[in-house]
Amino acid sequence: MIQTLADMRRDYTRDGLSEAQAPLEPFALFQQWFADAVKTEQLPVEPNVMTLATVDAEGRPHSRVLLLKGLDARGFTFFSNYDSAKGQQLAARPFAAMTFFWPTLERQVRIEGRVERVSAQESDAYFQVRPLGSRLGAWASPQSRVIADRAELEGLLAQTEQRFLDQAPECPPHWGGYRLLPERVEFWQGRASRLHDRLNYRLGEEGSWQRERLAP
Ligand SMILES: Cc1cc2nc3c(=O)[nH]c(=O)nc-3n(C[C@H](O)[C@H](O)[C@H](O)COP(=O)(O)O)c2cc1C
Repeated sequence: MIQTLADMRRDYTRDGLSEAQAPLEPFALFQQWFADAVKTEQLPVEPNVMTLATVDAEGRPHSRVLLLKGLDARGFTFFSNYDSAKGQQLAARPFAAMTFFWPTLERQVRIEGRVERVSAQESDAYFQVRPLGSRLGAWASPQSRVIADRAELEGLLAQTEQRFLDQAPECPPHWGGYRLLPERVEFWQGRASRLHDRLNYRLGEEGSWQRERLAP
């Protein structure tokens, strides 16, 4: 029988999130939840998949799925094409929101803040560990541009393969990393009857994190 949308509901009962379990800053908790996701989520869910939302110069939002590729005390790193739609949006409005959803764990994490480009050295270091096909693809694909058909893309790839026949492809100038510097990180743990736990961390002006509970 086809289930209607109105009837689709699951109760979340796996876990809770209390202040007693949560550190005073968000990075350690993110790392703990990420490690839980690596252990628990089953393929095809990749634990580092997230949705990245940006806004354009007119204030209109856009979102798409990306992979988180780095995390340190400075922030959350992802890689893309600097000339893509998201690249242009981030150039005009250097702020973004990231959402992680780990369904088995019934957890969501939302991260918001300013975005900056990582250094050319950092982009290059990551570019060099990507498989050859991905490195060639970064050169070949004019990400977000309209193309005539699949054959055009394959033609661009063939030209790129010719160009790099005798040399390893270096990191293209139009490709690299971005780092989201978090100002707000919210941890959401699903609970029964939609009375979920939400712990929100806000970065104060003096650089220290404030933790607060939000109503579900
Ligand atoms: C699972 C998954 C992972 C993805 N990872 C990336 C990524 O790390 N970097 C990227 O530029 N696009 C990635 N994409 C493609 C983006 O969703 C998007 O199509 C592309 O970046 C163009 O977005 P834009 O036109 O808004 O700039 C991924 C898509 C999926 C479904």
